Amino acid sequence: MIVLIGGEKGGTGKTTIATNLAAMRALSGRDVLMIDTDPQGSANYWAQSRDEMDITPRVACVQKFGKGLPAEVKDLATRYEDIIIDAGGRDSVELRSAMVVAHKAYIPIQPSQFDIWTLNQMDELVETAKAFNPDLQAWVIISRSSTNPSVHESDDTVEILNDFTNLSLSPTGIKDRIAYRKAASSGLGVSELKPRDAKAVEEMETLYKEVFSDE
Ligand SMILES: Nc1ncnc2c1ncn2[C@@H]1O[C@H](COP(=O)(O)OP(=O)(O)O)[C@@H](O)[C@H]1O
Ligand SMILES: [Mg+2]
Repeated sequence: MIVLIGGEKGGTGKTTIATNLAAMRALSGRDVLMIDTDPQGSANYWAQSRDEMDITPRVACVQKFGKGLPAEVKDLATRYEDIIIDAGGRDSVELRSAMVVAHKAYIPIQPSQFDIWTLNQMDELVETAKAFNPDLQAWVIISRSSTNPSVHESDDTVEILNDFTNLSLSPTGIKDRIAYRKAASSGLGVSELKPRDAKAVEEMETLYKEVFSDE
């Protein structure tokens, strides 16, 4: 399966979600490839630091840029069981072309008005991609939301999403937890991090099941 974790805004948790899903997929014995199309290269850096620290299982990662992406992804999809694409950037060629080949697209947003504004653009991008890729399914994930139960800033996002035809709301939310930052800086996913943050592991496992439930 080809899964895209994408979106225009930086800092929404795309790389965090992509690397966690990739680590879990590799841990379950699947042959997974991460494709980092973001010039910042954070996913690639994460995979490299795993290699440098001899962390197993290895998570293969390549960086790809430009218009040739759909053909390259299709070719790589014949050699790997799963592909997870980490794509960011405003109006980026990579984000648009990844949508043309992905089976599923997940768009993390933070529960703030600024991120909600970018959803219009994402809805249009998915609409355009569907002309070439009619089976594309796209979800918005609320990411990095507060763990404080008295903060209800996600509620507006849920309501606004009803206005978009091409985007659904993922039932899984990812909260802002130190474990994600700690894992990232050690080349790990939260399921590999010690001491274990049970809540982080649980929410990432829920997302994993949601993403890969068809396989
Ligand atoms: N759920 C989370 N909880 C805590 N920190 C997070 C979470 N998601 C991302 N971060 C942190 O926020 C920063 C940006 O996240 P990142 O995944 O790199 O976003 P993006 O790829 O969308 O730019 C990083 O420092 C990362 O560790
Ligand atoms: Mg990133």
